[in-house]
Amino acid sequence: MASAHGAHRILVASNRGPVSYSLDETGELTPRRGGGGLVSGLSAIGPDAGALWVCSALGDGDREAVRRGVGEDGVRMLDIDADVHADAYNGIANSVLWFVHHLLYQTPLEPVFDAEFRRQWASYETYNRAFAEALADEAAEGAAVLVQDYHLTLVPGMLRELRPDLRIGHFSHTPWAPVDYFRMLPDDIAEQVLRGMLGADRLGFLTRRWADAFTACADALVGGLGGTRVGVHGLGADADFLRARAHQADVGERMAALREQIGRGPDGERRRTVVRVDRTELSKNIVRGLLSFRQLLDDEPAWRERVVHVAFAYPSRQDLAVYRDYTAEVQRLADEINSRYGTPGWTPVVLHVKDDFARSLAAYRLADVALVNPVRDGMNLVAKEVPVVSDEGCVLVLSREAGAYEELGEDALTVNPYDVIGTARALHEALTMPAGERAERTKRLAAAATALPPAQWFLDQLHALEAPTAG
Ligand code: F6P
Repeated sequence: MASAHGAHRILVASNRGPVSYSLDETGELTPRRGGGGLVSGLSAIGPDAGALWVCSALGDGDREAVRRGVGEDGVRMLDIDADVHADAYNGIANSVLWFVHHLLYQTPLEPVFDAEFRRQWASYETYNRAFAEALADEAAEGAAVLVQDYHLTLVPGMLRELRPDLRIGHFSHTPWAPVDYFRMLPDDIAEQVLRGMLGADRLGFLTRRWADAFTACADALVGGLGGTRVGVHGLGADADFLRARAHQADVGERMAALREQIGRGPDGERRRTVVRVDRTELSKNIVRGLLSFRQLLDDEPAWRERVVHVAFAYPSRQDLAVYRDYTAEVQRLADEINSRYGTPGWTPVVLHVKDDFARSLAAYRLADVALVNPVRDGMNLVAKEVPVVSDEGCVLVLSREAGAYEELGEDALTVNPYDVIGTARALHEALTMPAGERAERTKRLAAAATALPPAQWFLDQLHALEAPTAG
């Protein structure tokens, strides 16, 4: 019997897709392919598997590409109304759900769940419904659908109603909030989020801690998980790709340029480096990182002229005022440290804000210390990437609130991300660690960081979804 269903046996759904388009003044569209765990994960099943990636058009270029019918095989971009998307993405996903899971609210004044919130929530529902309908339309009988992240929490429940035959998974790339924090959401909204996700057969999380937090919320607010299974898949770094990419010529050129900027200390020796690479993201704790570096210069003045904080803070979510303000504060504090401590031959903080992957890899290779101090983070792949490409070994100063702590905590120097003095102390300890110990730790960190490469991470989830009862 001919099926009215679509043809795809494996589907992935996420807000941001694997490709985006820019539109120039002449009307020409230029595609740009993105990276990340999902992109390399999906490549593991090969082009013949007939997989489909459903994503949202994000900017004018993407919308124009959809309208002109330009696209890539295996990708379906949804042209959701721009205002609906802005409400769902900026208003709900990034200003509410992201804040809840990363504990980012300044609670005396926020959140305020008012009529404006309700209006934006209706857009979030519309946006989730657009995904659910597209997936229902494209999926073959019994297909596997892997829904990604906090943007799409309602999709599993909606899709289950439309297509009970499908096997539905949902994966959270963020932390999950503790019960007391999660229930700041209005009761009906908290319940809707949980029930939406519990429409899936299986939920995936990056660490046991986030999986347990979800289960605790489900137990407290909706009477448990029902038939939904929960699993943990700790996405690792892609060692082969990173090592090959980090040894291309453009990375070498950037290392030379960075070394020039970092310079040499009073005795002519190479200055030490404390490196960080992040999106300028509220949860990454870049400001306290700078405060900790300043504290180090106060507490251990011998480091003056001898160490440089290389901070790459790339633009993110600039539609939101709070992100723009945070970006400005990072710049202001870096300038303040440089004018207060800097000397004619020494710039204590080398801050770069223009995204440049080759330069990030260059910094990874030459870093003496990597500072990864988020207030809360689903995983943090920088913590996993640095040890893999480091040339001579690098000490990892790692927040205990990063998901990566679960796998890397033993060989990192761990910090409470709010404790600026403790972080300064950890930086000093890292900078003075003997080379042998540093190299040994780096080796073990690299092994732990690559335990679950993206391809295996993706296949494990697919197999677990296909197995009706296991995991
Ligand atoms: O889960 C967090 C996440 O969605 C990541 O997958 C991604 O790296 C990051 O946030 C960036 O988000 P955005 O798409 O908003 O730039």
